[in-house]
Amino acid sequence: MTTDVKRKTLVAPSILSADFGRLAEEIRDVEAGGCDWIHVDVMDGHFVPNLTIGPVVVRWIRQVTRLPLDCHLMIENPRKYLADFKRGGADSVTVHYEACPHDLAEALEELGKLGLKRGVSVKPGTPAEVLDPYLDRLDLILVMTVEPGFGGQSFMEETLPKVSYLRRKFRGHISVDGGINAETGRRAAAAGADVLVAGTAIFGEKDRRRAIQALS
Ligand code: DX5
Ligand code: ZN
Repeated sequence: MTTDVKRKTLVAPSILSADFGRLAEEIRDVEAGGCDWIHVDVMDGHFVPNLTIGPVVVRWIRQVTRLPLDCHLMIENPRKYLADFKRGGADSVTVHYEACPHDLAEALEELGKLGLKRGVSVKPGTPAEVLDPYLDRLDLILVMTVEPGFGGQSFMEETLPKVSYLRRKFRGHISVDGGINAETGRRAAAAGADVLVAGTAIFGEKDRRRAIQALS
């Protein structure tokens, strides 16, 4: 069996840890620092306890960067909002398996029709096998490495076998999200992740270029 050529590791700063009063500046700073995508955490206060932002803010973010906008929807009934995120300028939209276990196929079809990259995420307690039937119609799988809802939590090592399992079967992007820093990012990349989402490890540092390089 041949081994895969090592993929480039992409870095996606999560703006959840940015200074929202200076959001445009913060995004320009990480773009200048060499990041690959901008990760936008959307929370509804139901699927997760926290509340954040929606398509209106995505539309403004679209004005300040040309980088792909990677929208992570931690919301119930995500299908209701897919077109709004497309109109706002999203490039990829990730829904949670747990938010639409019975209509995930429809959600993915709608994402495809909208011309969005189709993403799905699993919480730490959800086995990766639930995604087996969908692997042929996904562009991105986001493995949560903390419980979704808040930045600044500690990486859950026990989620890594899911990354390895998925990498054996899936050739698209595999992102990891939560508690990612240079050290945990290295372990996740070794397990097969090619997109590292990081909030605190980038926006919590003064020198964003250095923080991004440490993850790349
Ligand atoms: C958590 C979000 C993450 C979060 C990561 O629910 O999905 O994107 O912002 O933040 P850190 O890197 O600080 O764990
Ligand atoms: Zn996220």
